[in-house]
Order: sequence, then C-alpha cells, then structure tokens
Amino acid sequence: MRAIRVSLFGFGNVGKAVAGALIGKERFFREKYGIALKVVSISDTSGVVWLPEGIDLREALLVKETLGRLSAWTNDYEVYEFSPMDAVKEIEADVVIDVTNDKNAWRWHLTALREGKALVTSNKPPLAFHYAELVGEAEKRNVPYLFEATVMAGTPVIGLLRENLLGDRVEGIEAVLNATTTFILSRMEEGRTFEEALKEAQSLGIAERDPDGDILGIDAGYKATILHCVAFEPITFDKARVKGIAGITRGEVQRVRARGKTIRLVATVEMGKVTVEPREVSLDSPLAVESHENAAVIKTDLLGELAIKGAGAGLKETASGVVSDVIKAALRL
Ligand SMILES: NC(=O)c1ccc[n+]([C@@H]2O[C@H](COP(=O)([O-])OP(=O)(O)OC[C@H]3O[C@@H](n4cnc5c(N)ncnc54)[C@H](OP(=O)(O)O)[C@@H]3O)[C@@H](O)[C@H]2O)c1
Repeated sequence: MRAIRVSLFGFGNVGKAVAGALIGKERFFREKYGIALKVVSISDTSGVVWLPEGIDLREALLVKETLGRLSAWTNDYEVYEFSPMDAVKEIEADVVIDVTNDKNAWRWHLTALREGKALVTSNKPPLAFHYAELVGEAEKRNVPYLFEATVMAGTPVIGLLRENLLGDRVEGIEAVLNATTTFILSRMEEGRTFEEALKEAQSLGIAERDPDGDILGIDAGYKATILHCVAFEPITFDKARVKGIAGITRGEVQRVRARGKTIRLVATVEMGKVTVEPREVSLDSPLAVESHENAAVIKTDLLGELAIKGAGAGLKETASGVVSDVIKAALRL
C-alpha cells in the first residue's frame, strides 16, 4: 500500500464534496490501486489545519458545516495562519489540490510545481491566464499538473484531448460549457422572462448571487480558452471573443424553438480563435443539451467528428474530475 499525502486548499462546495468522495471511496482506492490517500492539511480563508499523520475528514466536514470556518477548530488540531504560498512550501505533501476560487492561485500553483508537488485543480483563471507558464513548469520538472474539473466538471474532455487523440490533429471544437445559461434559456423557452429565469436559477443555487460570470459568458470563455490551450496551443482569455446571453428576449428564444431549434451559449474553438456566443442549435444536435449537461463536438483529421456529453456542473460530478486527477497523479508519482 502506498500512502499519498494530500494538501487540500478550499473547503467550500467542491472541497467538501472531494472530502466526501475520499471518505466514501477509501477502500475502493486501496483495493483497486493500492493507494491510501492521506489528507495532511485543509485550508480555507480562515486558516490551515495541518496534521502530518492525517486529518479525520469526517470531523473536518462536521467542523466546517457547524462552525463555518476551519480556524474555529481548536481541540486536537493546530490551525496555522499560512498564506497559500507559505503553505505549499511548508507542508510536506505529494499532491496539492486547489479547489478554491482564488484568482491569483497561479502564483502558488507555480510554487507547488517548483517544489516538485503534483497539482490538481478545478480553479479556471490560473489556466485561462497562465497556461503556458504552468504547464511548461510542470513538464520541465516532470510533475503532474492536472485540471480535468475546470471544464465540463467530471466529464473527461480534458483527458480525451490531452491523453487520447494523440495522433489526431484537432480541427475545431464546438461546445456548450455553461449549465447556468442552459437552465435560463430552457426556462425562457417555457415562457419565463430572462429576469424570472435568472431569479429561479439563483433560488435553486444554480446561478451565483453575482451571476455575471455565467450570463456574460466569462465562465464559458475561461473553459473555451482552456480547451484551446489543450487542443491547439497556449492562448490567454483576453484573446477570446465573448458574448453572453443577457440581451436575449423570451420572444426570440420562443421563435427559434417554434422553428425546431434552440438557443444555447456555444463556444467555438479553432486554431488561434476562441468565440463564445448565443447560437441557434438544431434540436437533434449533441449541443442541444438540457439541464446541467455540457457537450463538446470535436472534429479531428483522422477520427472525424466525436461528441462527448455529460454533467458539466454539480458537486459530486466536479469531485469526480478532481479525485480522478488525484489518482492519476498518485499513480504517476
Ligand atoms: N461548484 C461547481 O459545480 C464547480 C464546478 C467546476 C469548477 N468549480 C470551481 O471550483 C472552485 C471551487 O468552487 P466552489 O463551488 O467550491 O466554491 P466555494 O464554495 O466558494 O468555495 C471556495 C473555497 O475556497 C476557499 N478559499 C478561497 N480563497 C482561498 C485561499 N486563498 N486559500 C485557501 N482557501 C481559499 C474558501 O474559503 P472560505 O470557506 O473561508 O470562504 C472556500 O472554502 C472554483 O474555482 C470554481 O470555479 C466549481
């Protein structure tokens, strides 16, 4: 049995779902891969809980859920006031997981890689702005840098492009990458106004209280930028042309539906070009997704057209991508 030390940054929705998956699958990982994952630190914005012998994840979840912040945990554990940068240097770990929403996390990703630690993340901005630097550093040091959950949650589109299709030249990708906009557009087809559909998405926890990232197309733009980096070459988000769904009316959505089509926020990724915009999609297209599904249609020179469709959001689904990357990293170490 190989023990793999894990340092977890971020203990919000995804962080807690990852902890839940690690608890639930402990035996499965031991039996299938001969790996014992030991979480040696957990961080939120209040502090870092660090125990080299391994933290009791059930207790950590209980503390976070009842007290709201890790720094309130005072009995058996030391709570440190490390910055993420100090924590990745100080804490001995084999795999660092970043499931924070820290936009500047690329700085400590780079430090973790320089320290020889594998890094697994669901956090998009580091990749959408610093892909070349981060992946370059990881390759130079032969350290895993894995980010499946940044695009399409646990649906393995990154793995498909990065680890399969290695002999194919990708010609283009069309994809629906943001579930919140799909939800809003579907509700508008049923007769809600944009504002009503947005409010409903917020009340169900599908859209954030500040919904701009989703409805202005920024989230889809980050993801499309990451797809470009993987399928073609590094590019940064500021090169993407992004238009969201804010200007679309109920009348427009319903007229398109009456013609047997549907409007979806579609990302088009071609060599040197990333575009996100609302587009009419035929109802029999793989891009005519519903609910929390995402889809990508990848065109390559040898394989032709390949469609991948699956969950694009959700906590269990995002945890699937993160945990799969952790296992991948552990097997490579
Ligand atoms: N939710 C999804 O379905 C989904 C899907 C794919 C990708 N993602 C991405 O996954 C990440 C996490 O999403 P989430 O929904 O779990 O967000 P969240 O609930 O807001 O949780 C973010 C967590 O990160 C912590 N945090 C922020 N900055 C930090 C820092 N510098 N050091 C240590 N901890 C820090 C927060 O601490 P506090 O608890 O103290 O606030 C919180 O625990 C985001 O980047 C998101 O875009 C989410």
